[in-house]
Amino acid sequence: MDNSSLLFGVMSGTSLDGIDIVLINQNSKTIKIIEFLQIPFNINIKKEFLALHTEQHSDLKRSIHLSLLHAKITAKGINNILKKYKLNTKDIKCIGYHGQTIRHHPQSGYSIQLGNANLLAELTNITVVSDFRNRDIVAGGQGAPLVPAFHNEYFFKRNKNRIIINIGGISNITYLPDNKKIIGFDCGPGNILLDHWIKIQRNKNFDNLGKWSKSGKLIEDLLFKFKKDLFFKKLPPKSTGRELFNIDWLNKFSINDYSPQDVQRTLLELTAVTINEAIQTFCPNFEEIYVCGGGSKNKFLIERIKEITGIGINTTDKLNIPSQQVEAIAFAWLAKKCIQKQYNNSPSITGSSGPRILGTIHYS
Ligand SMILES: Nc1ncnc2c1ncn2[C@@H]1O[C@H](COP(=O)(O)OP(=O)(O)OP(=O)(O)O)[C@@H](O)[C@H]1O
Ligand SMILES: [Mg+2]
Repeated sequence: MDNSSLLFGVMSGTSLDGIDIVLINQNSKTIKIIEFLQIPFNINIKKEFLALHTEQHSDLKRSIHLSLLHAKITAKGINNILKKYKLNTKDIKCIGYHGQTIRHHPQSGYSIQLGNANLLAELTNITVVSDFRNRDIVAGGQGAPLVPAFHNEYFFKRNKNRIIINIGGISNITYLPDNKKIIGFDCGPGNILLDHWIKIQRNKNFDNLGKWSKSGKLIEDLLFKFKKDLFFKKLPPKSTGRELFNIDWLNKFSINDYSPQDVQRTLLELTAVTINEAIQTFCPNFEEIYVCGGGSKNKFLIERIKEITGIGINTTDKLNIPSQQVEAIAFAWLAKKCIQKQYNNSPSITGSSGPRILGTIHYS
């Protein structure tokens, strides 16, 4: 049976850099990428989303407005792709629409992603699957990370103990050992604090290739203090986000007492060492490391992870899925599973009490 389908995946991650849209032709063995589009958020939208991340600015009106806007931007991108490839909406099975996380509180029973899936279905005339995290959370899980199941499907290799590291706003790890005892969890901040600091200090959105970090000196005692955060000590299952690793978190450490580039260098080291600790503690006998997400473009960060782990690092491009597209493709895949009424969570990773079908369907 040919199970191939055209799917859209839409991801906008914690970095708040914008919306990634991918169109794929997927069957159980292969994924063919037809188009990939990154729509950056303009400064005002980013500011609005950032404001919503703090409890003080918990504004219902703003949330509703941003949800509608997020769907409109996404629909425009999708409709342009459909036009470019002369595709009929009937040819598309579904859109996996993650939305923009503004709260992730699994311990309190919820995770909120903004993005109006009803409007997206209306504007594209395609079935939309959204709200992937909450079912896992109410079943006792973290609702994150959800991508390890996808990594397992497309990156697992017999006789190889493989690690996949996604470095987005937050970094998360998936271990795919030959014995199939898959492990996955959030390691800690990926780019989020690096982005914050360079924005405040140099008004740049990110540290291109890690050049500014590289110009600074590592502050050992500051790194030691950063690492004391209880999140790093917690055993998996665990997940985190902007509600923990944010500007308030940074301000606890009197960072203004140090030179700005040294702080940047130390934040980069924090990302590298917390990834390394996750590897050394939970990935016995690992043999290969592949990275994806925006952090894989941070040359100095990858150099540091290489040095600390002592092993060569490739991007997932080597495994035929471009490093910047993995997350969006994963949500297309999760959505298709939802439509097909197949379990798509990973209880052993998120800690939920059993298999569930994640996602809410909004028919075309
Ligand atoms: N050339 C580059 N040099 C250094 N860092 C980069 C570069 N390009 C992107 N980045 C970093 O990658 C980030 C975006 O990564 P990505 O889109 O994977 O994160 P995300 O949207 O938070 O995703 P997710 O939460 O799904 O993992 C940027 O904010 C920036 O910090
Ligand atoms: Mg992104």
